[in-house]
Amino acid sequence: MPRPEVQAPPEIFYNESEARKYTTSSRIIEIQARISERALELLALPDDGVPKMLLDIGCGSGLSGETLTEHGHHWIGCDISQSMLDVALERETEGDLLLADMGEGLGLRPGVMDGAISISAVQVILQVFVLFLQLACRV
Ligand SMILES: C[S@@+](CC[C@H](N)C(=O)[O-])C[C@H]1O[C@@H](n2cnc3c(N)ncnc32)[C@H](O)[C@@H]1O
Repeated sequence: MPRPEVQAPPEIFYNESEARKYTTSSRIIEIQARISERALELLALPDDGVPKMLLDIGCGSGLSGETLTEHGHHWIGCDISQSMLDVALERETEGDLLLADMGEGLGLRPGVMDGAISISAVQVILQVFVLFLQLACRV
């Protein structure tokens, strides 16, 4: 089965049924949690007991955001798929959710966020870049 990012744009691929399938897969739940833990380690936030405000870019249904919540942080998640955000709302994730394309910016003022994570989402942009290069090479 080809990877999601080569099948269709994310706002089309992650429709209602894919969003539900994604969120109920125990394998995906575990992977998102483990990578989010690692992303938090890499952020190396000060260990001062003060909750931080984090951005989850491509937050999907909020699996990665749950790890942020478990660590006591606040978060805002953005995603391009309304269906993924609908599932996040149903699951009552703690983060505030924005329907937005990460490539277009969020209009947040500098310094508002203490850090950002993006788990299994940025490769979609890389895939678009690869497709663009492949097309350009054919010209
Ligand atoms: C594999 S899912 C991971 C979701 C999330 N990290 C989680 O734990 O559930 C990738 C997500 O990236 C989102 N995404 C892809 N391209 C995006 C873009 N340009 N802007 C915002 N979100 C995007 C998709 O809609 C999808 O929900």
